[in-house]
Amino acid sequence: MTEVEPPLVDVRDDRLARAKALVDAGSFTEFGSEARHQVHAFDMQRKRPAGDGVVTGVGRVHGRPVGLFAQDPTALGGSLGAVHAGKIARILDHAGRARCPVVGLLDSGGARIQEGVAALDGYGEIFRRNVALSGRVPQVSVVLGPCAGGAVYSPALTDIVILQRDRAHMFVTGPRVVKAVTFEDVSLGDLGGADVHGRTSGVASLVAEDAEQALELARRVLGYLPGSCWEAPPTYAPGDPGPMPAVPEDHRLPYDVRDVIAGIVDGGSFLELAAGFAANVVVGFARIDGQAVGVVANQPRVLAGCLDIDASEKAARFVRMCDAFGVPLVTLVDVPGFLPGTGQEARGIIRKGAKLLYAYAEATVPRVTVILRKAFGGAYIVMNSKSLGADAVFSWPGAEIAVMGAEGAVDVIYRRELEADPSRRDALIARYRDEAMAPHIPAERLSIDEVIAPAQTRAVVAATLRSLAGVWQPGFRHDNLPQ
Ligand code: HXC
Repeated sequence: MTEVEPPLVDVRDDRLARAKALVDAGSFTEFGSEARHQVHAFDMQRKRPAGDGVVTGVGRVHGRPVGLFAQDPTALGGSLGAVHAGKIARILDHAGRARCPVVGLLDSGGARIQEGVAALDGYGEIFRRNVALSGRVPQVSVVLGPCAGGAVYSPALTDIVILQRDRAHMFVTGPRVVKAVTFEDVSLGDLGGADVHGRTSGVASLVAEDAEQALELARRVLGYLPGSCWEAPPTYAPGDPGPMPAVPEDHRLPYDVRDVIAGIVDGGSFLELAAGFAANVVVGFARIDGQAVGVVANQPRVLAGCLDIDASEKAARFVRMCDAFGVPLVTLVDVPGFLPGTGQEARGIIRKGAKLLYAYAEATVPRVTVILRKAFGGAYIVMNSKSLGADAVFSWPGAEIAVMGAEGAVDVIYRRELEADPSRRDALIARYRDEAMAPHIPAERLSIDEVIAPAQTRAVVAATLRSLAGVWQPGFRHDNLPQ
């Protein structure tokens, strides 16, 4: 163990500088700076960079301990051999024992070819530890360069994946192999760049424009999470929310639910995750009265806010991550239902929608729901309803809550009447709205705790969360299984 003082003059400078930039100034202590591979084959004794291509150590972020590793592409391409893997495994073990988060800065040519199976086994050792730590301590991956082959599975097992735009490339099979097998010509970026993982695959939680921003985002994420599941999430000075926007009364008109989130949470505290992927559901960390919360909200601007496969998986993983780390959940509902169609059914909306249902039903953190405009059918139940165990469900006065929308409902229950006299449709729709959809109906049977005005929302949610402060208990709840 050595205390590292700047300036340093070897190829590890850049990664050391990054490791140091991630942690609080002066707080980095390096482990294993003299480690070198022991390989003799392929003339490898001629290339034995100090540290074996990875900087590992401990430091503090926001004054709290973290473990970290930073791969160095200037040393053997950042490739992973037995010693390199052993250093990372030690830091993961250290974080597990110390019950502190671990951050990895990834930039590597993958398994060190000269080390063969020893390199592959090194990955296995890392994956096993990623899984053992899952749900126990937060794990953050910052991908600053290539991350190829099975190496992608370490970040995929962690809680948060941050990609540096233009530099990070993640794929299981690289362009050359793709070309050989499928004859498809594809660039690194089109195969595994930030756009692919930020928008289509859902691998990226956050995309940063440069390394500096990537590290800043990692620090910011850690600011919402506890050191481990045995610690309460950190609290900060309360901030004022933004103004609550007027949401269109016509349920078919879109609006941006992030404006409503801004009207509830402490100003500037919302950090949206996976913003470009499955944008029909919005998830992210925020603070209310200085207390970290996880926000899940249907987004009426995209697919009218319907839940589909991607949205269900995105929200399910976020709910499970928040629950694992004791972060209370605030759910904002404006959902017409699950996205209908053969594509969704055949690809498994039953199986995948069930993940979100499972995640909410399992969650033991404080859970508060606000129904903004509509909540129909299965999606009403899934979005943290009272019956799934929500601590409190509120509704805005104009909300419609029912088995289905009025038009669809009257076509089913008044089919014969409408065949006899189609002109009655509007009147029947109005009657259904009155008798089956208004929020006072579920409020009468305690499915909704209180109907509240939009302007009251922040105060009511904050007061409810305060009242639930005693819910938090230290302890392992569950892992954060990738989905
Ligand atoms: C050994 C490697 C290496 C590797 C790079 N180097 N990757 N050495 N094993 N996997 C070495 C190069 O030989 C070179 O050494 C130095 O690192 C820099 O590499 P360059 O290619 O010159 O750098 P650059 O042009 O920046 O390209 C970086 C790169 C490329 C895109 C990462 O090196 C590359 O494609 N590497 C192979 C990637 C790959 O297919 N890896 C295996 C994935 S499969 P010198 O001595 O010339 O400086 C895998 C399985 C994991 O990882 C399974 C886990 C279960």
